Amino acid sequence: MQKKNSVYIATSLDGRIADRNDGIAWLDAIPIPEGEDMGYYAFTNEIDALVMGRNTFETVLGFDVEWPYQKPVYVLSNQLKEIPESHQGKAFLVNGTLTEVLEQIHSQGHTRLYIDGGSTIQSFLKEDLIDEMIITTFPIVLGGGPSLFGEFPKELQFELVESKVFFGQLVQNHFVRKRG
Ligand SMILES: NC(=O)c1ccc[n+]([C@@H]2O[C@H](COP(=O)([O-])OP(=O)(O)OC[C@H]3O[C@@H](n4cnc5c(N)ncnc54)[C@H](OP(=O)(O)O)[C@@H]3O)[C@@H](O)[C@H]2O)c1
Repeated sequence: MQKKNSVYIATSLDGRIADRNDGIAWLDAIPIPEGEDMGYYAFTNEIDALVMGRNTFETVLGFDVEWPYQKPVYVLSNQLKEIPESHQGKAFLVNGTLTEVLEQIHSQGHTRLYIDGGSTIQSFLKEDLIDEMIITTFPIVLGGGPSLFGEFPKELQFELVESKVFFGQLVQNHFVRKRG
């Protein structure tokens, strides 16, 4: 069974994933034509489950839309005691070291994982557990807010496998971890 941890995320020019108020309204600044998903559907088709931090989970719960995920969502949290009743069966609480968390998720047959949330992605990168990243850059400097990347104990080399421009405004780069 192929084991793969993937990131699919949007960032500002200054590498932030949310603004200084933790908002993501800037993602709506570029009008996206209906029916265009910038490869999101194809990407999610190739994953078995999502792993997201509590903050991202709570942000999604706060959206006034239907639950957007078709695949199981594993929520990393030490604070959350249980998943709200409305989302039980769709989202599952996990905690422990990343090795323990991954063992638990892999044992459910979910091995191709979409890793989401700033601190969560950083903690996976710190342990060199990210295999690919699809990063869409929006043409805005936010000047504050959580960054996608932070300080890491070692350099991690990635190879660019694809680069696309959407609507003449957004650049989407697909990077694969170059090991060895
Ligand atoms: N631009 C985009 O495409 C995009 C995508 C996703 C999210 N976002 C935005 O990014 C923000 C959320 O990112 P975030 O950095 O605040 O956090 P996050 O990764 O979503 O959540 C962090 C929380 O996850 C829990 N956690 C448990 N174990 C962890 C571990 N090993 N590593 C990391 N976290 C662990 C902790 O919760 P406890 O305190 O409960 O232990 C921690 O406080 C939101 O504003 C969201 O809207 C943007």
